[in-house]
Order: sequence, then structure tokens, then C-alpha cells
Amino acid sequence: MTGKKPTLAVVGATGAVGTVMLDLLSTREDVWGEIRLIASPRSAGRKLACRGEQLEVVALSEEAFEGIDVAMFDVPDEVSAQWAPIAAAKGAVAVDNSGAFRMDPQVPLVVPEVNASAARNRPKGIIANPNCTTLSMIVVLGALHQRYGLASVVAASYQAASGAGQPGIDTLRAQMEKVSGTNLGTHPGDLRGVVGDLGPFPAPLALNVVPWAGSLKEDGWSSEELKIRNESRKILGLPNLRVSATCVRVPVVTTHSVSVHASFEDEVTVAGAHEILRAAPGVVVLDDPAAGEFPTPADVVGTDPTWVGRIRRTLDDPKSLELFVCGDNLRKGAALNTAQIAEVVAAELSGKS
Ligand SMILES: NC(=O)c1ccc[n+]([C@@H]2O[C@H](COP(=O)([O-])OP(=O)(O)OC[C@H]3O[C@@H](n4cnc5c(N)ncnc54)[C@H](OP(=O)(O)O)[C@@H]3O)[C@@H](O)[C@H]2O)c1
Repeated sequence: MTGKKPTLAVVGATGAVGTVMLDLLSTREDVWGEIRLIASPRSAGRKLACRGEQLEVVALSEEAFEGIDVAMFDVPDEVSAQWAPIAAAKGAVAVDNSGAFRMDPQVPLVVPEVNASAARNRPKGIIANPNCTTLSMIVVLGALHQRYGLASVVAASYQAASGAGQPGIDTLRAQMEKVSGTNLGTHPGDLRGVVGDLGPFPAPLALNVVPWAGSLKEDGWSSEELKIRNESRKILGLPNLRVSATCVRVPVVTTHSVSVHASFEDEVTVAGAHEILRAAPGVVVLDDPAAGEFPTPADVVGTDPTWVGRIRRTLDDPKSLELFVCGDNLRKGAALNTAQIAEVVAAELSGKS
């Protein structure tokens, strides 16, 4: 197809990730021919803005993939599990944002800054996009790994409500309205009952932190915590990397933060880490605590890079670093990384790489 711009389908165009995707497609370098928007039959006929045009959403069906070269999936796991293989069978390269294929050994798990070349090896015609919490820290860890050799990671996340999709955003906003102007949060359990619907969260999120994200897996681990471990290993090509994570939901609308303790094979220095991270594509270092400068989700939201600050060498271990990273979970954590993967494929299909 050299010379012709590839065609793109955005499946799940109406969701939290899909909405950011349309914004990205409208503002990034335009490498696409036709763009087709797909969602559930509930949304068929809705018009959404993309590249300055109003595009009509079509219902998901086999015919919707007719003539499509690349199909992005920003839909729940079960929808991707069923439909990404159908898109691939129709000749499209599927780039999937859900958790359906991430750990499939025949599906590459790609972060372009870390392992772009893995996207070429896709025996099922599917490429997976990592989970948003993994993505919030992996570009930083990948860069440090290149120089120091990563040995282990202990991570604690501070995850935003939008990590649970549009229902997560709606629930937090509704709860915030109910607690605003009250003196709730001063007695045990006083928030429960007042905040109303808990939505996708197991406890009130407004004025609270909730040490849970995902579903319950063996031995008390949450699915989100296991994803951080398994996906980091796969992306970095370190199958035995020691990774331990605790995932916590905080009352932030969008942008995940992660406090990371990373241990390396070699001794580290803060100056060395600054130098590596300043040179790393997709990373911004904001690390001047004397001036009150460090990343916070409220400042990072809506931006593309992974922001890193609070970089310290561990006091009792010259081979370890403490870091605080922030990444917009709907941009680098989802839509942006998917768009970047799709652009890698577009360049390949257009004969430009
Ligand atoms: N939110 C994040 O931070 C994040 C980060 C990384 C990855 N992800 C993953 O990205 C995917 C989308 O997440 P989200 O947060 O955008 O969810 P969301 O806001 O709930 O949106 C879901 C999208 O999927 C569509 N959909 C649902 N069921 C469908 C069906 N049967 N057929 C066709 N389309 C269907 C919806 O269309 P309708 O509007 O027509 O219902 C909507 O466009 C999920 O797999 C999620 O795990 C999310």
C-alpha cells in the first residue's frame, strides 16, 4: 500500500479513552486516510468531531471493518476478545487497549519508547497496549534499565477515577457534589450513605483513598497489581523481574501517579538518573523540591509525557532509587500509546519504516 494513507477504525469511539483518541487524532500528525468510528448499537448514528469533521458512529459489525487497515479497540475486555480477531481476519491490524490479549505469548505488548520493534512480530494480527498503571511508570523504568539494569520494583499507585472509565468519572463527580460544603470526613463511616452510589469503587472515593483497583485474584492480590508485575516483565523482556505493587484509588479525575522503589544491578546516582531521564523520549523531569517543583496529577493531566520527580537514592542502598511518576492515564496510559503503536504500524504499511 506504499503511497496510500492507511485507513483506521476506532472501536469504542464514544468512551473515556475513545474521546481522548479523537482529540489525539485531530491534533497529531495526520497519517490516516479514512477514519471510521465504531461503538455499540446504542451509539449508532451519533456524530462526533474528528479532524474538524463530524463523523457518524456506526455499530460494531463485521462489515464495519471492510477496507480497514488498522483497527484500534478501546472497548471492554470481552468485546475486544470477540472482535479483535474478527478485525484481524478481515485483514486489519488490531491494536487493542483492553486486557484481553496482553499476556498472550503470540501478541506483542508494546510501548514505542521501550520496545517499538516488537510491534512487527504479530502472528495473530493483534498488538496489545499495556494497562494504564504500568504505562505510567514503564517509560521511566525502561530508560533507567538500559543504563543500570533493573533488578526489582516496588510500586504504590495513586490511581485516578477515570481509570475505571466514564462511570468512574461520573461517580467521583457526583460524590464530590454531595460532600462539597459539608463537614463530612470527621467521623468513622460518615461518608457512607451520604455519597450514594459507589459506582465502580468498593468504598466512597470523595474525601477518601481506597486501597483497591481491579478484581480479586489469588492470595489477596488485585488484578491491577498482577498486571503491573506481569506486563512490566513482558515489555522489558525480563521474565524474572521482581515486582510488587499496591494499587490505591484516589479522588483525582484523570492522571495516575506511582511511587516507585527501583533496585538495579549497578550503583546509581541521582545526577546520573537525571541525565538519563532528561534524555529519554517521552519523559519530563520536574525535580526541584526546594522550589516546590514535582509532578502532581492536577498539573500533568492533559499532557502527553511521563513526568518524574522526587528522585532520590535510597538511603540504605546505593543500587536503589525512589521516584514519583505521573502520567495521564487516558493519554499515555491509553489513547496516546495506542495512537503511537498505530502510527508505527501505519509507517510500516506505508513503506516508511
Ligand atoms: N480508562 C483508562 O484509564 C484506561 C486505560 C487503559 C486501558 N483502558 C481500557 O480501554 C478500554 C475502554 O475503556 P474506557 O475507560 O474508555 O471505557 P468506557 O468509558 O466505559 O467506554 C467503553 C466503550 O466501549 C464501547 N462498547 C461497550 N460495549 C460495546 C459493545 N458490545 N460493542 C461495541 N462497543 C461497545 C462503548 O460504546 P457505547 O458508548 O456505545 O456504549 C464505549 O465506546 C477498556 O478495555 C479499558 O480497560 C482504559
